[in-house]
Amino acid sequence: MNMQNIIRKACDGFKPYVAGKSIGEIKREYNLKEVVKLASNENPLGASKKVLKTLRDNFDKVFFYPDSNSFDLKKSLSKRYRLPTGNIFTAAGGDEIIELIAKLFFNPEDEIVISKYSFIRYAMAVQLMGSKPVVVPMNEEFKYDLQALAKACNKNTKAIFVTNPNNPTGTYNAKKEFSAFLKDLPLNKFGVKPIVILDEAYFEYASLEKDYPDGLDYLKDNLNLIVFRTFSKIHGLAGLRVAYGFASEKIVEYIERIRPPFNVNLLAQAAASAAITDKAQVARSQKLVAKEKLYLYKEFEKLGVKYVKSAANFILFKSFPLAGKNAFAKLLKEGVIVRAVDEYELPDWVRVTVGLHKENKLFIAKLKKIWKS
Ligand SMILES: Cc1ncc(COP(=O)(O)O)c(C=O)c1O
Repeated sequence: MNMQNIIRKACDGFKPYVAGKSIGEIKREYNLKEVVKLASNENPLGASKKVLKTLRDNFDKVFFYPDSNSFDLKKSLSKRYRLPTGNIFTAAGGDEIIELIAKLFFNPEDEIVISKYSFIRYAMAVQLMGSKPVVVPMNEEFKYDLQALAKACNKNTKAIFVTNPNNPTGTYNAKKEFSAFLKDLPLNKFGVKPIVILDEAYFEYASLEKDYPDGLDYLKDNLNLIVFRTFSKIHGLAGLRVAYGFASEKIVEYIERIRPPFNVNLLAQAAASAAITDKAQVARSQKLVAKEKLYLYKEFEKLGVKYVKSAANFILFKSFPLAGKNAFAKLLKEGVIVRAVDEYELPDWVRVTVGLHKENKLFIAKLKKIWKS
């Protein structure tokens, strides 16, 4: 059977997403006892005690389907963020949110504006729908050039992706820039501003920066804005796949129509409801990352390694003279999993997630070792 003749044209030439390697995989492959994973921006503190107890309390319910509407979780989110449940939707991870939005809005004739070096799943969603990606360069500091993004819009622009802070660069755009960007957007052929999809996966980490904009503050005045966040990062629930978004009631109503039923599983809903009220866990995680970033910056400076200051829980650093994938492979053999970023066209760079102090220390020791070898 010739698959190319029968699959949708948009799916031809699709490359699978390269997921970070797991600890088990590397232990087996390299016969290692100790392996640390600093590759996928997870929270090394794990889920909180309160969340783990909630999970245990719900184990015996897993023979039921989950609540298809995530009623309790939406209520908890509504209380936490003081927004009506009609403005909230949930999904199985930010990845599903990106796909749901793409399925809802992107036609083949639409142009979708994305920034260079931004989270790769946007370009994949555009490709999946057969729409036209318009890629705008970043500025020299690896920051989103929001002015250039607005300028790249024309009559055919359906949507724009903005990540704040961005993965893999860790950079963020300040309140002033973001407000001006929303204001500057031109109308498209539908007589509306393009949909702005604001990805705040690392919101809690970035919110320590004084001039970091909270996307929710802009919802009321910008009906074209969709903001989403995830439980995978600071809340330590990556393995459960759960995320949430905010938008106008009309947009939420359509997302609800097209999403798969039961998309957020029963344990994920229960754990997420517990996690969203656990302010102590968020504060602990913010503190750890803020402190450890300073440690890593200092060590990079001692080593003469160029890095990008990050508002998130990971740091992009230059591996030159080693190619990023060589540095990745050498560190892997030493039991440290980081992330090469070739798929972002950053062949001389590597992204490392901020871990526990002992993990960061091990990473630095191994980095020194591979540098010398
Ligand atoms: C910027 C950004 N958005 C979205 C996601 C997706 O997260 P998840 O699908 O785990 O919610 C990630 C994960 O790495 C990310 O870095």
